[in-house]
Amino acid sequence: MEVLVTEEQIARRVNELGDDITRFYEGKPLTVVILMNGALLFGADLVRAIRQPLRWDTFICSSYHNDRSSGELAIRCDLKNPVKERHVLIVDDILDTGLTLKAVKENMEQRGALSVRTCVLLNKNIDGKLFMSPDWTGFDISDRYVVGYGLDSNEEFRNLPYIAARE
Ligand code: IMP
Repeated sequence: MEVLVTEEQIARRVNELGDDITRFYEGKPLTVVILMNGALLFGADLVRAIRQPLRWDTFICSSYHNDRSSGELAIRCDLKNPVKERHVLIVDDILDTGLTLKAVKENMEQRGALSVRTCVLLNKNIDGKLFMSPDWTGFDISDRYVVGYGLDSNEEFRNLPYIAARE
């Protein structure tokens, strides 16, 4: 496997994102919604780089089956707490078509959040032509299947501390 983003590069970028996000939400009621399972590690590191009070919650849904986008949002494990009257930052591992994130964003907006923004570690939709573009991006990457730091291939490789292309 070819390493595309090293552990050190991830750590540095997560801190930069944390600084930007801290400045953006300073003094506002913030809930960070971590999309499981892929964004578990990124979300855990990112919340510690955001230097202001916040709540976090996790959300398990799927809109992506057998490595292909289906566009349907099926909620498998909902948020524990309401996000009404709170600013929501959705954190995901990777944006490919943007179908998943667009569907989750609409879902959070319907719950009465004050605002809904998105942060992804990796963005494959560099030209922004598909369903949506994230508000914050860790790294733009070319259209290759990647694993590691939470991202899987058939549930394997999530524990790699770096991002690698599968072949
Ligand atoms: P989208 O709805 O097309 O943006 O798909 C996003 C979801 O597809 C991500 O949250 C991942 O779960 C999965 N995905 C897309 N590309 C990759 C990849 O290269 N490696 C691992 N999972 C991926």
